[in-house]
Amino acid sequence: MRIGYIVGSLSAQSINRRLVHALQEVVGDRAEMVELEIAELPVYNRDLDDRFPPAATEFKRMLGEIDGLVIATPEYNRSIPGSLKNALDWGSRPTGENSFPGIPVGVLGASTGRIGTAVAQQQLRGVLAYLDMPTLGQPEFFHTFDAAELDPVTGAASDERLRRRLEKWASRFLEHVARHSRG
Ligand code: FNR
Repeated sequence: MRIGYIVGSLSAQSINRRLVHALQEVVGDRAEMVELEIAELPVYNRDLDDRFPPAATEFKRMLGEIDGLVIATPEYNRSIPGSLKNALDWGSRPTGENSFPGIPVGVLGASTGRIGTAVAQQQLRGVLAYLDMPTLGQPEFFHTFDAAELDPVTGAASDERLRRRLEKWASRFLEHVARHSRG
């Protein structure tokens, strides 16, 4: 099973990247996890639909080669970051060549706020529904970041409760991908 992941943050210190690293550790050899890079994508402009920039072409190529997708999103001003929305816009174009439909997707996110990206994730779910992606409903995964719980170097979840939550989410997500496999 080949699972792509998008980290919605461009920060080198991203707590969402750390969360994905912890998830990767928990997934282990049940799936190969590959990053779909979004940092080099220019701001979407439909005038480029007939001459996609290389980063966007590569992004769409990767979308064609995965069985499932994980999106780890920060919450910016009670919504998803522009960088993530930008990537979703590129992947959905040009007209008639939306790369997203049918890809099973799971959403999680970490923030420093108490509701742990709940609002951003809810908005993201609306976009994913429009993109026609089967989206894991439960368990939801809202994480309020605590520096003590994720190793800054390895990304491993040092907190046992967080590890168990990630384990449950990973198992359900992998089942979801298998159920909606594009075959
Ligand atoms: C934030 N942050 C934030 N947190 C939150 O819980 N709700 C919010 O609406 C916002 N809004 C917001 C806007 C902007 C522009 C920034 C830069 C930050 C704080 C945010 O949770 C924190 O910076 C996280 O560390 C962002 O995730 P990454 O980039 O570390 O993955």
